[in-house]
Amino acid sequence: MTSRSNQTNKPLHKKNKSKSSSIWGGRFEGKPHEIMDQINPSIDFDKRFFRQDIKGSKAHAEMLSAQKIITESDKDKIIHGLDQIEKEIDEGTFKFSRELEDIHMNIEARLAALVGDAAGRLHTGRSRNDQVATDFKLWIRDTIDILDKQLMHLQAALIDLADQNFNQVMPGFTHLQVAQPVTFGHHLLAYVEMLGRDRTRFQDGRARLNECPLGSAALAGTSFPIDRNMTSKALGFDRPTANSLDGVSDRDFALEFLSSASICSIHLSRFAEEVVNWTSSQFNFISLSDAFTTGSSIMPQKRNPDAAELVRGKTGRIIGALNALMVMMKGLPLAFCKDMQEDKEPLFDATETLHVCIAACTGMVQDIEANSSSMENASELGFSTATDLADWLVRVLNIPFRQAHHITGCVVKLAEQKKCLLKELTLDDLKNIEPKITNDIYAVLEPSKSISSRRSYGGTAPQNVKTAISVARQRFLES
Ligand code: ARG
Repeated sequence: MTSRSNQTNKPLHKKNKSKSSSIWGGRFEGKPHEIMDQINPSIDFDKRFFRQDIKGSKAHAEMLSAQKIITESDKDKIIHGLDQIEKEIDEGTFKFSRELEDIHMNIEARLAALVGDAAGRLHTGRSRNDQVATDFKLWIRDTIDILDKQLMHLQAALIDLADQNFNQVMPGFTHLQVAQPVTFGHHLLAYVEMLGRDRTRFQDGRARLNECPLGSAALAGTSFPIDRNMTSKALGFDRPTANSLDGVSDRDFALEFLSSASICSIHLSRFAEEVVNWTSSQFNFISLSDAFTTGSSIMPQKRNPDAAELVRGKTGRIIGALNALMVMMKGLPLAFCKDMQEDKEPLFDATETLHVCIAACTGMVQDIEANSSSMENASELGFSTATDLADWLVRVLNIPFRQAHHITGCVVKLAEQKKCLLKELTLDDLKNIEPKITNDIYAVLEPSKSISSRRSYGGTAPQNVKTAISVARQRFLES
């Protein structure tokens, strides 16, 4: 049909906008059902992308102008308008609209209001599909950089506490049964290693995600002569994504990020569990101040390690987010599907949760007071130096280890019967079990001797811990 049949002489695409959604323009005549207002918009949560969205749009506009797809003057208007929008959002004066669905269209609509027709040219050669993938990658990349710093601070706090306790003896456990004495510093440094791996896991994911989807357009690429290398470079990506279908539908980066976040939160939950145990009156290894504990409304004596319990508990939310995204992605056909809008809320929640958990752990570590005498007393219990006794039999009397293990078992049994510590058995008691035992054996039954003997690489001896602390400072804190 030609414009001759258009009685008002107005182009058809400018008519009849009243009933249909103003966003979709010509094709739609009816209004969306009211339930669509509840299920469809993502603006309430994806507004977090505003800075990344503006950055991406600026890079796109610069490229369109450099490629002569839009004029320089339109580009200048767009950039100016986007700066204005960023300011409005920062200052809280921007009006977000659910009708405009998401951050991309909210910004574009405001840009149209600010700079007129030039705004309509910004979306040339791109789609919300590549836009949202780009924003999401930029956002996760920024988040990883924040998490890396946070984790480094937690490592620093742990290393400082380890330094203060490099020779503080405590019982080491396996199966939560007393195993062998260790140093508290050594125990704390175990968490420094875990967090170090967490940091590299996030970095691995960061390197893999650093390919730019912008310019994949809806799914097939575009007929405009865009320069994807230019936008990729401007946004700090290593290269553009190689396949447009993959570019818009890949969410591996979100899954990988959440998987790293889950593992990290599991590490934090293990530390939190130790804090819960250690602050109990049964252990009493450490104390936390009022800052990280709460009282009970009924039991006046209570001091509950709420922060630690919540770190432990919140792990469920982070792992839950990973689960939610994996199930959402499973079986989705290429390319973009609206299901993928569901990738954000769990990930945002998991990220906020992880930030707060790391901060709480850092605060707790800085707050911990080691209760030396409790740790020392506890390290005498549970026949913690039985392995040292067996090792002495091997080293000094040249008894094969299996036999030494058996002899030590008999010694422990006797101490159990006499309800005493190993070092409280008399030399006669010991000689009755193994006649070649001499007075020298008593030296190895002291927990302090036990720890200082464990000098194998990675072992718990105080002198190892001292070295490990300075190595950890170089490996993790000086970059
Ligand atoms: N709001 C969408 C999201 O969060 C943006 C992409 C929408 N694309 C589309 N074709 N509906 O994923």
